[in-house]
Amino acid sequence: MSTPDISHIKSSDYQLIYEPAEDSFLFLDALLQDINFIRNLRPVTCLEIGSGSGIVSTFLAKELGCPVLSICTDINPHATEVTKKTGLQNGISLEPVLTDLVNGLGERLKSNVDVLLFNPPYVVTPSEEVGSHGIEASWAGGKCGREVIDRVLPLVPNLLSKIGVFYMVVIKENRPDEICSILMKSGFTMVTVLSRRSGPEFLSILRFTRVDYR
Ligand SMILES: C[S@@+](CC[C@H](N)C(=O)[O-])C[C@H]1O[C@@H](n2cnc3c(N)ncnc32)[C@H](O)[C@@H]1O
Repeated sequence: MSTPDISHIKSSDYQLIYEPAEDSFLFLDALLQDINFIRNLRPVTCLEIGSGSGIVSTFLAKELGCPVLSICTDINPHATEVTKKTGLQNGISLEPVLTDLVNGLGERLKSNVDVLLFNPPYVVTPSEEVGSHGIEASWAGGKCGREVIDRVLPLVPNLLSKIGVFYMVVIKENRPDEICSILMKSGFTMVTVLSRRSGPEFLSILRFTRVDYR
């Protein structure tokens, strides 16, 4: 395993975009742990919502080692720029799209996403902090840290292909069991791939599939 080279990102960039942190690295660890599972799905299209620096999509594309279309959305224009550069720095072609979640892409991607990745703004904050297009969008999750997450959950069944898998980062305060119940109603099964305490946060990487692989 090699963590993507992000040496091109300057400290001044991190004033504008999310700097990869414990949550990002736990996400990489979980994807690495699941890499054979993901490879066996023979994915064609990967979509990351909120790619930030692009480290997660770059890592997955590199580890898969086969050609995939990697679409990365972010609401922050600096993030889409850096995402493109991070891919190129690592010999990977990422397709960043500046949009709110998957606005404008939903119809085209319908039932076509084999791997959906989401490290959301999950921090519990006042609701007024949610919805910025700047660095605050990296963490501000509003009530229970769920305000952006809860806009993504209803999109998942439409986006994922039959074999599609959805990975997301959560903290305890996001109430993972409730998230599980919401997606269970659309026929998904949840597995906790990895969990780790990081300071005050108890982070987990959840995996959702229509097929029960437990
Ligand atoms: C916690 S950061 C994760 C960044 C990167 N994926 C990582 O793991 O290091 C969350 C990212 O989601 C983006 N984001 C927040 N709200 C969004 C929205 N409504 N649509 C698209 N991206 C959004 C933020 O700009 C930020 O880049």
